[in-house]
Amino acid sequence: MTGRLNHGTDGLNSGAWPVSGEHLITPVDSFFTRSHAPVPQIDPASWRLRVDGLVERPAELSLDQLIRSFPKQAIAATMVCAGLRREEFLLLGPLPGELPWGPEPISTGRWSGISLGDLLQAVGISARARYVEFIGLDQVERHGTRFGYGASIDLGKALSGEVLLATELNGEILPPQHGFPVRAVVPGWIGARSVKWLGHINLLEDASQNYFQSQAYRLQRELNPDDPRDVSAGTALTEMPLNSVIVSPGGSDVLPAGRLTVRGWAVGTGGRPLQSMELSPDAGHSWVTARITVPGERWTWSLWEGELTLPRGRHVLAARATDSGSTQPATVGETWNVKGYNNNAWHRVPVIVE
Ligand code: MTE
Repeated sequence: MTGRLNHGTDGLNSGAWPVSGEHLITPVDSFFTRSHAPVPQIDPASWRLRVDGLVERPAELSLDQLIRSFPKQAIAATMVCAGLRREEFLLLGPLPGELPWGPEPISTGRWSGISLGDLLQAVGISARARYVEFIGLDQVERHGTRFGYGASIDLGKALSGEVLLATELNGEILPPQHGFPVRAVVPGWIGARSVKWLGHINLLEDASQNYFQSQAYRLQRELNPDDPRDVSAGTALTEMPLNSVIVSPGGSDVLPAGRLTVRGWAVGTGGRPLQSMELSPDAGHSWVTARITVPGERWTWSLWEGELTLPRGRHVLAARATDSGSTQPATVGETWNVKGYNNNAWHRVPVIVE
């Protein structure tokens, strides 16, 4: 039976557990949630989306206007939290203040709404605009101030046609915890840029100064000796990395000796197709090829399956994917960073065979 693994007691950060790799599209009730503040109560009748900054015609749109003024678009996209598999970094030392996510904060949805590009063309983009900032209506508290969660993406991605202002998930009205009434969906990028409960879109010359763009979700490999949690000198995270995970068997499962089917998911970076998926019965000393059983769409994971024959004893299984540009690193030490983001080392699962 699938339940939910909660990080904290407020119910804001959780994922289905054990992780299910059965469906290309994750059922809404199995979707992970990652929220930095309580879910805001939004009345869709009075909700407005403000679009301003470096635009020619600033606008304020009701939900009805947004839906009626632009053609409906849909895209399948895997949402992944940059903290996915952070717990494996903890073997190298503590990461204070960060949620110890395992492989659960990843889900794939079929999102529909309107194209961000269509909206931006309608309001007219000023020549100086380089970034699109999204601000949510939630109220996050950091260092004594309260503000809406925010992020920015570059104008090229914003106009690519694939970034949605989504009003539906899997054909249902967007549930409150996933951003009702409207959220950004930035396919292929870390989930942190897909801002929920959108209230404001602001075109800027520089990247957003919002805490979650300028001081978190940044990759920094050197510790700041004056503040070991400061990553403001790092690089803002954009695309999710190439990654793969063994979903079944689970860690420390006790299995019968003999032939074993191993299953999991894999996703390329930047929408690249997968080139191979490999499985190891012995922590990465030898490898066999697994097969893609459910090929994904451009911005989603794919599901795979492979067979191993295991004698009695303790074993560490490993999985690694290769896309058209790279292969996963062997160890967490190669990508360790101050806040423990984007772990994509070979996924290892210890099992006991009796
Ligand atoms: N948007 C707002 N307004 N507030 C948030 O806390 N969390 C972000 C992103 N958008 C967040 C947000 C993060 S870190 C992730 S991983 C995704 O939402 C999670 O989306 P989900 O909860 O729908 O799975």
